[in-house]
Amino acid sequence: MEKIPFIVGNWKMNKTGKEAVLFIENLKDQITNCKASVGIAIPFTFIKEAFKASENTKIIIGAQNMHFADKGAFTGEVSARMLEDIGAEFVILGHSERRALFSETDDLINKKLLKALEEDISPILCIGESEEEREKGKMEEVLKRQLEEGLKNVSEEDAKDIVIAYEPVWAIGTGKSATSEIAENAHVFIRKCLKEIFSFNISDKMYVLYGGSVKEENVEELLSKKNIDGALIGGASLNIESFSKIIKKF
Ligand code: PGA
Repeated sequence: MEKIPFIVGNWKMNKTGKEAVLFIENLKDQITNCKASVGIAIPFTFIKEAFKASENTKIIIGAQNMHFADKGAFTGEVSARMLEDIGAEFVILGHSERRALFSETDDLINKKLLKALEEDISPILCIGESEEEREKGKMEEVLKRQLEEGLKNVSEEDAKDIVIAYEPVWAIGTGKSATSEIAENAHVFIRKCLKEIFSFNISDKMYVLYGGSVKEENVEELLSKKNIDGALIGGASLNIESFSKIIKKF
């Protein structure tokens, strides 16, 4: 890790607006002296409340998904402009749960990513292989495809606003984190792909986070690796004690 660490909580479908505000008010007091940048990906319905609670703090607020169109007949969907309007500064795209449970394809994720960039919302593009793919030796093939397709038609200028999150599917919510060596290995490969897609200069500047059972006990070891610039944290970001302990390490 050579950059200022970026620690992002992914709350998934948890909490209420009231709980979010209390959480953020509590968290902000605890992390004032930390060096890390901190983000929380909030459910749509209380992004605005979370944004208000985070004003004048170092916490930035983001969303977990969006639609790629500007507006129109897409019942139940939320556009990038709507997110921007309520204070979201980033959006998680292509999380493995969305790929698996909501059939999101690389092509769809790419459309969302291009729209997010257009609306000045930084995308966090999630990529990662399943256990089966890893066992069959397909990790590199999967990561390369997800990066190439997901980042199609992105300019070098825009690339610096994109964060990549490497989240091996077998490590998400399982308590079975990748070892720091396994994670760093994947991050080196990701960096190489980014260099091919953009340039060395851009690939070096881009943030690549690790996600998958990150907790207080393993976060320092993971982030000590040269190519791991931060963490995307699910379970351990829901609890104020565990999330603040992670942030306070940096
Ligand atoms: P986890 O989730 O930290 O609970 O494994 C990570 C994620 O899904 O982003």
